[in-house]
Amino acid sequence: MLPKKQKNLFRYIAFEGIDGCGKTTQAQFFVNYLKREGFCVYFTKEPGGVNNKIRNLLLEEKWPSKTELFLFLADRALNIVNVKREIEKDCIVVGDRSIYSTMAYQGYGGGLDLEFLEKLNLFSTEGLRPDVVFYFDIDLKTMKNRVKKHDAIESKGDSFFMRVRKGYVELLKKEKNFFLINGEKSKEEVFRSVLKIWKSLLGD
Ligand code: TYD
Repeated sequence: MLPKKQKNLFRYIAFEGIDGCGKTTQAQFFVNYLKREGFCVYFTKEPGGVNNKIRNLLLEEKWPSKTELFLFLADRALNIVNVKREIEKDCIVVGDRSIYSTMAYQGYGGGLDLEFLEKLNLFSTEGLRPDVVFYFDIDLKTMKNRVKKHDAIESKGDSFFMRVRKGYVELLKKEKNFFLINGEKSKEEVFRSVLKIWKSLLGD
């Protein structure tokens, strides 16, 4: 059960950004922080929150863009069952990626129609979207320094990732639940920014 002050507040927090932005590390820090604060926490990631079957398919080889899209959506539709169950149990769900990765990568990056993607995303989640999104911004140079191994998505090239990053910046302008964090700084500094935003959201 959540402590009282958390009731009816933010239940689904997503961590977003281009590859190498540090979101996975930050999501883990955040999970540990919430647990220390006494919250029930459920960590999940996309793709692969429930199991790695679709994730492996997606990352092991390149697919035509629509096949790739539907695999991400299929993975999400599976994952969202657990996400909803945990929210029902009054837990806070921490998501390493979410619907917004599809907007940024397949939409802005891959050129698929954004409005259509929005509909498909909400179809796959039955309308659920994260309450809060921490977006970790880094430039391409940092991405390349940090990401050495390349899976099918990560090998899409510079211009793709430039579009993905620009896409996130567009989302940041459009979506009220998005919060910008400079991902270039040290892990500790970045996490301090996460906590500052989180505490301000809770009114602490
Ligand atoms: P992720 O697990 O975050 O990367 P890593 O293997 O470095 O931990 O995500 C895997 C890749 O999938 C990443 O390049 C982003 C991409 N992706 C999309 O293109 N669309 C999506 O909807 C999602 C969830 C991820």
